[in-house]
Amino acid sequence: MIKNLHKWLILRLVLAWIVLSLVIGSIVQYLGNVRVDNHIMDMAKNEATGHTDALIAYLSAPSPPALSVLNSRLTAMLKNSNFIAIELYDAAAKKITEAFEPTAREVDKNLSEHDSGLADAKGIVCYKLMLWGETYLRVFAPINNINGANIGYLEGIYHVPGETISNIKRQTLWALVLVVLAILVTGLAMYPLIIRLNRALFDSSHNLMQSNIGLLAVLGSAIAKRDSDTNVHNYRVALYAVCLGEKMRLSDTAMQGLIKGAFLHDLGKIAISDAVLHKPAKLTYEEFEVMKTHVKHGEDIVSSYDWLKDALDVVKCHHEKYNGSGYPAGLKGEDIPLNARVFAVVDVFDALTSQRPYKDEFSFGTAVEIMRESLGSHFDPNVALIFLDNATVLYADICHGDEALLKECLGKSIRKYFSVGV
Ligand SMILES: [Fe+2]
Repeated sequence: MIKNLHKWLILRLVLAWIVLSLVIGSIVQYLGNVRVDNHIMDMAKNEATGHTDALIAYLSAPSPPALSVLNSRLTAMLKNSNFIAIELYDAAAKKITEAFEPTAREVDKNLSEHDSGLADAKGIVCYKLMLWGETYLRVFAPINNINGANIGYLEGIYHVPGETISNIKRQTLWALVLVVLAILVTGLAMYPLIIRLNRALFDSSHNLMQSNIGLLAVLGSAIAKRDSDTNVHNYRVALYAVCLGEKMRLSDTAMQGLIKGAFLHDLGKIAISDAVLHKPAKLTYEEFEVMKTHVKHGEDIVSSYDWLKDALDVVKCHHEKYNGSGYPAGLKGEDIPLNARVFAVVDVFDALTSQRPYKDEFSFGTAVEIMRESLGSHFDPNVALIFLDNATVLYADICHGDEALLKECLGKSIRKYFSVGV
């Protein structure tokens, strides 16, 4: 679960807002530029085709009077349109006449020579040009007679009014602002929804976790009732294990497996007969072989439920010994999972310092002495020495603790390592 959901969510919504604004804003900007280009080219084309009748009339029947009329029409065309220069060519690309505004000569000098192949173009061709911060179009318009035959073409320079471009750009800017605001409002609307959904998920996860912890406690109690009629052994070894694990700075995940393993380590004893389990004397070889099978029975039970599987290291290997003389697999050294090496230390310490049907409890000093003699044989010395360094305090706090008090202490550790809070 996320520790600070509000901060996490706000950060991601802001990032999503910025990224979406940039991406969609770029698309809007691109479409706006296309719209500007299409609009000004449509303007130029409309104005270019508005005066073709005089051009057709002259090219169909050239004569000095017709040329005079044509020149008058071209001058009027310059005055009444945004064209600043017009040149008329016949079908052989020979210039017939031209009309220029005073400023157009300078513009024309800075434009590249046109491709003569444009004379054969089927429709009007426009090129956009930027010059001194102004927008110009170079326009080529074929002129056809009434039979559709090409009889010449018009070449012109069209000055796009700055106001036209400004208006379209202003519209694009507003569209951009609306898009950014729409994304922002969507994000703000999603915020409480995501929080509410997360809360529902949290509640569901919390309930599931409570159920699983309840299952853990029930299974632990079941084996405790079967084995010793009290939960106190489970509570003590779980508390010892938590303290040792914390001293060793185990990860939270490892701690969860260690706590589950501590509760369930002898779960397989449910399958052991009373005659063997409760025999108030040393077991025979055959009886001990039966007793050993509790490890496999425990493994079978725990591995049947996913949430319990991280307890398997402890359940399977809590009777392995560091020198390889343990059971059931005879694992040696660090081949034994760390959680099992940790648990073996606290399980034996609790067995030594508590009363069992077949033995009295040892004193703290005797228990520590026995454990020191087993460093490197039964126990991983690195693990056991950390425990023994803290054993005095742990023994005083836990060994003879009241069952209810031990249960309360263990509850705090369970809440610490199994919390699903945000
Ligand atoms: Fe065991």
